[in-house]
Amino acid sequence: MTRITPAEIRAMKRRGERIPMLTAYDYPTARILDAAGIPMILVGDSLGTAVLGYDTTIPVTLADVIHHCRAVVRGAARALIVADLPFMTYHTSQEEALRNAARLIQEGGAQAVKLEGGATVVETVRRLVACGIPVQGHLGLTPQSVHQLGGHRLQGKTEQAARRLVEDARCLEEAGAFSIVLELIPAPLARTITQSLTVPTIGIGAGPFCDGQVQVLYDLLGMDPEFKPRHVRRYANLADVIRGAVTGYLEDVREGVFPGPAESFGLESTVTPAEAAEAR
Ligand code: KIV
Repeated sequence: MTRITPAEIRAMKRRGERIPMLTAYDYPTARILDAAGIPMILVGDSLGTAVLGYDTTIPVTLADVIHHCRAVVRGAARALIVADLPFMTYHTSQEEALRNAARLIQEGGAQAVKLEGGATVVETVRRLVACGIPVQGHLGLTPQSVHQLGGHRLQGKTEQAARRLVEDARCLEEAGAFSIVLELIPAPLARTITQSLTVPTIGIGAGPFCDGQVQVLYDLLGMDPEFKPRHVRRYANLADVIRGAVTGYLEDVREGVFPGPAESFGLESTVTPAEAAEAR
């Protein structure tokens, strides 16, 4: 099976094909996503909030992303795997960014990296691309800057902020980014950016006009019933499904229904734990 390339993701825009993207952090879900035909999988630093229990993506380390990326790559043979460069792994210098991006490719097995920001990271994007590392940009709400932005809020609301985002997107494309995630920006602004670029935009909370959409997998699977931002659509209620299965198992073990009577193991029945307790 041949793997989807960044060039093919760009070609999907030229053909007018919408691009579905999802996050994955482990082997079994990567297998399911790949078999379903998801063309691009993101090992996002959202793994911090989705699976590691952090409040933000900021504590996520390069080693965390590499560890999860290796599992995802083992599970997905066809999808293009994009791995996030975590907080402060690409800001201190271009050489540091290059070294860290190289580790995601070489040790993690990803085929591309994603990084957040506009003008401040453009020269870093240029350097990574020049060294043969495909880069996906990320504009709008950039969760690694949550403290600076004052929360997870809609971005690009003022004319000046919108103009800056259009310019940032143009600069990222010019520096060689093969696609750009647009997070939490008004739909008309996402349309303007999408129409002004030849590379695809992948939206999350950015309306229907982007070339593709990305979602955090566990949000659409309903793993956390409490967490439901406006841009998330629930396609399943896995928290309920898992709770039901675990409760069933718990009761069966307590009542001695699982793993089954001694006879089904070809043994004579002996004293059960409950009978032994009662006898004491
Ligand atoms: O880390 C992540 O999952 C992301 C998506 C929300 C785009 O950056």
